[in-house]
Amino acid sequence: MNADVRSFFGRPIIVGGGIAGLMTALHLAPEPVLLLSRNRLGTDASSTWAQGGLAASVGDDDSPTLHLADTLAAGDGLCDEEIASRILRAAPDAIETLAGFGVRFDRTPEGKLRLGQEAAHGRRRIVHAGGDCSGREVMRALVSAVHSTPSIVVVEGVEARRLAVKENAVRGIWASCSMGSVFFGSRRVVLATGGIGGLFFDTTNPLGSCGQGLALAARAGAVLSDLEFIQFHPTALDGPGRPMQLISEAIRGEGATIVDETGRRFLEGLEGIELAPRDIVARAVWKHLSKGHRVFLDTREKPGTAFAVQFPTIASACRDVGIDPGRDLIPIRPAQHYHMGGVAVDADGRTSVAGLWACGEVASTGLHGANRLASNSLTEAVVCARWVAESLLGTTVRRTKPAITNDYPSPDPTTVRSLLSRALGIVRDSESLKATARALLPLADGNDAASDPAAVGLMIAIAALWREESRGAHYRADFPHRAAIARRFEITLADALAAARELAHSPSLEGAG
Ligand code: SIN
Repeated sequence: MNADVRSFFGRPIIVGGGIAGLMTALHLAPEPVLLLSRNRLGTDASSTWAQGGLAASVGDDDSPTLHLADTLAAGDGLCDEEIASRILRAAPDAIETLAGFGVRFDRTPEGKLRLGQEAAHGRRRIVHAGGDCSGREVMRALVSAVHSTPSIVVVEGVEARRLAVKENAVRGIWASCSMGSVFFGSRRVVLATGGIGGLFFDTTNPLGSCGQGLALAARAGAVLSDLEFIQFHPTALDGPGRPMQLISEAIRGEGATIVDETGRRFLEGLEGIELAPRDIVARAVWKHLSKGHRVFLDTREKPGTAFAVQFPTIASACRDVGIDPGRDLIPIRPAQHYHMGGVAVDADGRTSVAGLWACGEVASTGLHGANRLASNSLTEAVVCARWVAESLLGTTVRRTKPAITNDYPSPDPTTVRSLLSRALGIVRDSESLKATARALLPLADGNDAASDPAAVGLMIAIAALWREESRGAHYRADFPHRAAIARRFEITLADALAAARELAHSPSLEGAG
């Protein structure tokens, strides 16, 4: 980074170079903006890895009402129906917008969008690009559009470390780059930093995604919501590689089955079988593995020989570990895949801190509820980016003053990863959540490399502890049923620290009896 940052003072800043960040920047044009990215654009965003595509009711037999019904059913009583309806009604237009930016979607010979099927969708409504590399194609087109938009200044190799906040309003960002610490003054910041996969051993996401946006917002005093809802994808390739290779649900949509080492389709008792909602399939696979079985995706008959043509990226990843999906079973296990919770935002993406917006996986709009319907998240990112941009453009701002440079350590999630992987996986219980909160407290309270990942982990652990029921992706062994009343929880870092301090002073059952 060699430009004089003072020349950018006052510009809106977008933190994050995935689909949500790029779309927000493009919708803001011709307003000059600064887009900060940790890596070269398009290289380390989970958006680039997305196989599934975008859900939109564009089929002749479909409608936003049907799409909404499936979204609400998967969300298990916790979706915000008004927001969900608004986002899903805008989904078909979002596909058109992307096509306008040059995204080459998969089409039939007649030129219509080719629609895929995924779990818990009552219709074929997943729009793909390049078969199983939808994210890569969308990113290719958007990165190229951003590079040819003169109002967007992209600054790569920069990590945002803290938001400067005064009287609950944003004043800028402290960041670090190869040249050291730097302050970007701005009263308008959009967080588009992605998810939390790097906080788990078993994840399908880039390991660098370890909740930095949540930490930035939380340390600025923002309200977060639904943090306990973490989606585990049932079919990640069970091998030594980390992050794990996702084996797309679209393959089950084409007829692949889930079997164990005896060849039994052990999900047969579930409604929807392999295409039941993702949380249900993931728990059933996890339970079967816990009993000592091995679990496989059987693609030999369906999609069979069409596999390599329909799913070229996955076929190639399988071949790399000696598996031929047309002939062999694919070993699978669940892995962390998506965070439904995030920074609480209103319909325009505004957070509880003035001048701070959030968009994409880092945000909690209320669309996903307790369990995200497959392929609704890229759709959400594209749709909401427009509303965030419009809201930001409608805000008038005063000049920002320079601030002294501050140093904050680069986050390292190693310690936190082992704690969260144990206590915040597919099945949770009070004692392990409490023990994890106690262990995370001193880390979150400190100021070293583990502090920000620990603060994020602590808020998730406390939110999971507060939810004394099982709903959607949150399953408590000690509270296996749904509560009579469905309600969403909000949390701040101060709440989580206070709750953890109380736990630290209360007697632990560990070692008792
Ligand atoms: C998949 O392709 O299975 C993932 C789709 C998604 O997570 O939305």
